[in-house]
Amino acid sequence: MPQQVKAVIARAKGAPVEVTTIVVPDPGPGEAVVRIQACGVCHTDLHYREGGINDEFPFLLGHEAAGIVESVGEGVTEVEPGDFVVLNWRAVCGQCRACKRGRPQYCFNTHNAKQKMTLLDGTELSPALGIGAFAEKTLVAAGQCTKVDPAAEPAVAGLLGCGVMAGLGAAINTGNVGRGDSVAVIGCGGVGGAAVMGSRLAGAAKIIAVDIDDRKLETARRLGATHTVNSRTTDPVEAIRELTGGNGADVVVEAVGRPETYKQAFYARDLAGTVVLVGVPTPEMTLELPLLDVFGRGGALKSSWYGDCLPSRDFPMLIDLYLQGRLDLGAFVTETIELDAVEQAFERMHQGDVLRSVVVL
Ligand code: APR
Ligand code: ZN
Ligand code: ZN
Repeated sequence: MPQQVKAVIARAKGAPVEVTTIVVPDPGPGEAVVRIQACGVCHTDLHYREGGINDEFPFLLGHEAAGIVESVGEGVTEVEPGDFVVLNWRAVCGQCRACKRGRPQYCFNTHNAKQKMTLLDGTELSPALGIGAFAEKTLVAAGQCTKVDPAAEPAVAGLLGCGVMAGLGAAINTGNVGRGDSVAVIGCGGVGGAAVMGSRLAGAAKIIAVDIDDRKLETARRLGATHTVNSRTTDPVEAIRELTGGNGADVVVEAVGRPETYKQAFYARDLAGTVVLVGVPTPEMTLELPLLDVFGRGGALKSSWYGDCLPSRDFPMLIDLYLQGRLDLGAFVTETIELDAVEQAFERMHQGDVLRSVVVL
């Protein structure tokens, strides 16, 4: 039987989000219905509601979530009812050229549920990142459910579903930060903060946090930064070079997504160093760099989608480290809120007041 549940939708461009009733179908082949326990508020949800991603309104928002599998459709073997799962937006296909080369973390053909959730009048919803988890229940592809240790707090576990994984993975997967490395992270919100934490986990010797907001720099210290630079008052390229013996950092993670901060990252890395762009630019942004510098400085200029994570490999491992007290994922939960407070959470996110607000159901 299709179920009616409460959920947060964005009905039209720019309009405030609203709590409404939606219809969740029974899971079809390869699908699962998940009872959501917690879902973080991410910038991408705000981008959807502002029409910045596409105009397939109405959107069912929310995508950094954890919950319990309620039912599964035909042919689903990877999860079963009762499993505690973190939802992911990288259900890999196993068939595309990336998967076939043994690099499923780059899968070019990820999938979501085939059936649609709807409003009561039958209007089809577009779930954010194929998830839509500001809802009591949601329908996803079974491959979007990653089983993790149920001892983890749902509000914390869910954050691995997007921003925190993006930042951790930018450092440990894409940037390949290793023992003894020097790392600089430009922009220390939820994503950059997670890159700081990932760098500490990977054994970086020096972790330089750069932001224009002193509150974020204080948090970055708690997450593992060894040095902080306020780039509103101090030239970050000079500061990072000074802190690294005049050379620049081995890895610089850009977690803002703007041309000027990308340039800072480009010039703040050591020769043959790596830049990782994890901040998401907007379509009108362009970048100009002397090609000779791109050539002459060597190294690698990489971008990191979802932290190059493979959910089945990375989520259970990171949750285990969290449960062992070796990765303070709880530090990202600034506040827990109810389903009807998402609009206010967008406002606080916009003001830079929070790392993450998490809806708890
Ligand atoms: N220089 C340095 N830091 C900056 C600058 C700048 N010019 N502009 C903004 N920042 C800082 C902000 O002060 C804030 O601490 O960048 C941080 C951005 O953090 P959040 O707003 O919390 O965003 P976050 O969730 O971390 O995402 C960062 O990654 O996934 C993408 O879409 C996301 O582009 C966004 C980026
Ligand atoms: Zn694939
Ligand atoms: Zn997100």
